[in-house]
Amino acid sequence: MANTATLEIEGKKYEFPLIEGTEKEVAIDIKTLRGATGGYITLDSGYKNTGSCESAITFLDGEKGILRYRGYSIEELAEKADFLEVAYLLIFGELPTSEQLEKFHSDIKAHSVVDDDVKKILDAFPKAAHPMGVLSSLTSALTAFNPESVNVDSEEDMYNAIVRLLGKLPILVAWAMRKKKGLPLYYGDSSLGYVENILKMMFKQPNEDKYVQNPILVNALDKLLILHADHEQNCSTSTVRITGSSHAGLFASISAGISALWGPLHGGANQAVLEMLEAIKEDGGDTKKYMAKAKDKSDPFRLMGFGHRVYKNFDPRARIIKVAADEVLADLGVTDPILDIAKGLEQEALNDEYFVKRKLYPNVDFYSGIIYRAMGIPVEMFTVMFALGRLPGWIAQWREMRLRKEPIGRPRQLYIGETERSFKSISER
Ligand code: SDX
Repeated sequence: MANTATLEIEGKKYEFPLIEGTEKEVAIDIKTLRGATGGYITLDSGYKNTGSCESAITFLDGEKGILRYRGYSIEELAEKADFLEVAYLLIFGELPTSEQLEKFHSDIKAHSVVDDDVKKILDAFPKAAHPMGVLSSLTSALTAFNPESVNVDSEEDMYNAIVRLLGKLPILVAWAMRKKKGLPLYYGDSSLGYVENILKMMFKQPNEDKYVQNPILVNALDKLLILHADHEQNCSTSTVRITGSSHAGLFASISAGISALWGPLHGGANQAVLEMLEAIKEDGGDTKKYMAKAKDKSDPFRLMGFGHRVYKNFDPRARIIKVAADEVLADLGVTDPILDIAKGLEQEALNDEYFVKRKLYPNVDFYSGIIYRAMGIPVEMFTVMFALGRLPGWIAQWREMRLRKEPIGRPRQLYIGETERSFKSISER
């Protein structure tokens, strides 16, 4: 492979190094572009062709539908690992030994409480508040009660901030849901596994003296959280990285990521998918009407849960979740007409010229909401569950950025506004 790329501008040639990654991807290193060319920059709205960093955490191949965390395939991890093991793998780079995993979990449990004053902040929210806004606010508010987690430079300080957040965020997730349902708020149960504890905090009923775990729900949630755990430089992860690049603390950076994930084009799509499927059901299952809306350029409607910036043949996570949706509904004895509508819509889209030409396939958000709904999770909580799954990935990416001492993110722009003009007094305007 040649080791440079040549750019010619007005007859002058400029050479830029080519960098090859471990999966044979190649990047043009343009860090000297502006200086070498006397001010030229690149322009790439939405960063569709621009790499923001070098990372060793997650590898995607959009053409082949490959997703690997630290070299392990998503298929193997979803089948053989549990969520806490995958969180450790993403953050520290290796699958943990049993001793390492036990210490990790014990350190997390040591921080699985939040200051009671957080409940006062939660109480100040109206019941109608969207749980993603509540979660983002409470995550940032944790900074006030854990000031030592803000200015972290040593790996030890980072570790302490990380286990604090892995212990506290599930409590905030459970409380956000229970606040919406008007249920009392419970702390976790340190005798339980990480995912079992989350389910108990979310679903223990006030009149129950003992919450009985349902292994189907535990396995389903564990798998869903693994499938959402990281996805290289997506919108919310890039938000976490650029926020952390100013040396803002971990909690503030994750709070920013939660806000970015909320958007319906990103993590908010799982809620939008269910609302779309419900609307189709109310419309008598008229999928053709919604397919037409999705193709109508004058209509802002998009077929939610379809399309992806990277995957152009299939999203491997959607394949795994689709099988899991069948299994979970069968195991729970739930028949959900929404699932049948989803499968019908998928078949229509897979055979529609507009979708096939644009390589629009179901993504991770298309089927996940069906499982969450079968588990009794309210639709407004779906994106919160995505955030809970993505937390270890966000943490891993933030930690990698800080350990690599990446510079503060500060993109350039192409100015297209007014050129210089003189001020006019109000009487002259
Ligand atoms: C996630 O980046 C990640 O990794 C994200 C994620 C993660 O794990 O972090 O995988 C999670 O966010 C999954 C995506 C969830 N979002 C949705 O399901 C919302 C619906 N999908 C889209 O809006 C869209 O497909 C995106 C945002 C996912 C991708 O958009 P791109 O890559 O910017 O593509 P585009 O908007 O340029 O679309 C290309 C063409 C356009 O048509 P033309 O102008 O070429 O005629 O495809 C069309 C678009 O109009 N198109 C769709 C469509 N998605 C793209 N048309 C109808 N329905 C859709 N869903």
